[in-house]
Amino acid sequence: MSAHLPSGRAVRSDRTALALRGLKKMFGDVAAVAGVDLDVQEGEFITLLGPSGSGKTTTLRMIAGFTEQSAGTIEIDGVDVSTVPPHKRDVGMVFQNYALFPHMTSAENIEFPLQMRKVPKDEAKRRVADALKLVKLDSYGPRYPRQMSGGQQQRIALARAVVFQPRLLLMDEPLGALDKKLREALQLEIMHISRQLGATVIYVTHDQEEALVMSDRIAIFHDGRIEQLGSGEDLYERPISLFVADFIGESNILHGKLDAGSVVAELGQWRVSGAAAARASLPEKSLAALVVRPERLRLIPRTGDVPASVNTVDATVTDVLYLGSTRKYELRLANGQAVGVRQQLGGPETVWNPADDVRLAWDVDAGVLVAGRGL
Ligand SMILES: Nc1ncnc2c1ncn2[C@@H]1O[C@H](COP(=O)(O)OP(=O)(O)OP(=O)(O)O)[C@@H](O)[C@H]1O
Ligand SMILES: [Mg+2]
Repeated sequence: MSAHLPSGRAVRSDRTALALRGLKKMFGDVAAVAGVDLDVQEGEFITLLGPSGSGKTTTLRMIAGFTEQSAGTIEIDGVDVSTVPPHKRDVGMVFQNYALFPHMTSAENIEFPLQMRKVPKDEAKRRVADALKLVKLDSYGPRYPRQMSGGQQQRIALARAVVFQPRLLLMDEPLGALDKKLREALQLEIMHISRQLGATVIYVTHDQEEALVMSDRIAIFHDGRIEQLGSGEDLYERPISLFVADFIGESNILHGKLDAGSVVAELGQWRVSGAAAARASLPEKSLAALVVRPERLRLIPRTGDVPASVNTVDATVTDVLYLGSTRKYELRLANGQAVGVRQQLGGPETVWNPADDVRLAWDVDAGVLVAGRGL
């Protein structure tokens, strides 16, 4: 029987390729990583996503063995490698800034990890040629890094990281220095290559779109911890906190107090679905926030009834932006809060104008409940 990950990758087994347990790193009295637990399946593509300084690179460096952890353990394929030196961990790594050896050609760069591992010369040559082919730079073996573009150098770095068929492939913002078009092309290439190799990948990025495109699961880092781990859809549709809701995609957040299945605020009272309430499981009367994505909001006239399954709040249009496939409305609520709405174009549509008084409506099911600030 074969299972599939959300990306369509076949899971080769249900083996855990990497397990982090209570992983911590202190720099002086600052916890750069404050206790990370993570299980990664063999063949899975996991992305660490989070703001600058949240501990992504430090976590990756501990997995590779370049930084020693202050507490916790790292298991690769069920073996505790916490005290094993980097070159014996069987981990390939790609950094943001190419990090190719400048005095070596592409072929020599790619061959280097094979020499380290004492792979016989003939076999090494064959593997280097295969790796160059894999990254579509067959004829670039004799070139020095300075004779190649950033994208080409990064492909060579990828070839060097995979040539010894590591059990784990770690990448720290490998596309961060490249322009958007090249980044998008290489995202797909990295996905195809890692899938072809059946590699288990831990990938770090700042870029949420990149994370959504590439990953089976995404770990949202916040202050040295994983705040939420899940598929892109989990994180977008069911964020567990204001931080995650804010970090992934655009969101509108209505603050209030939880009262008998509704969020109650000065501007209104909005029903919470049973499923959303069960997921959040917040105490009665606690500070709460309702998260509604821009594409889930509709603009309707202020007059007229709405069914009980729909929440509403009055708003005034401030700006209307035509964006090709969508129209974006910026609105203001009576308390001054800004709200954004996205409407898909192409169907029947009422166009509103700046200064129009409208009502925002959304299905009760579309609202996600999270703890409010101050809890
Ligand atoms: N060698 C070091 N000495 C002292 N503090 C460090 C060291 N390396 C990292 N830190 C601190 O640890 C925290 C986490 O850093 P880290 O590089 O892991 O963040 P990051 O999530 O990779 O950020 P970015 O997205 O900017 O790359 C930061 O506050 C950083 O200043
Ligand atoms: Mg970093």
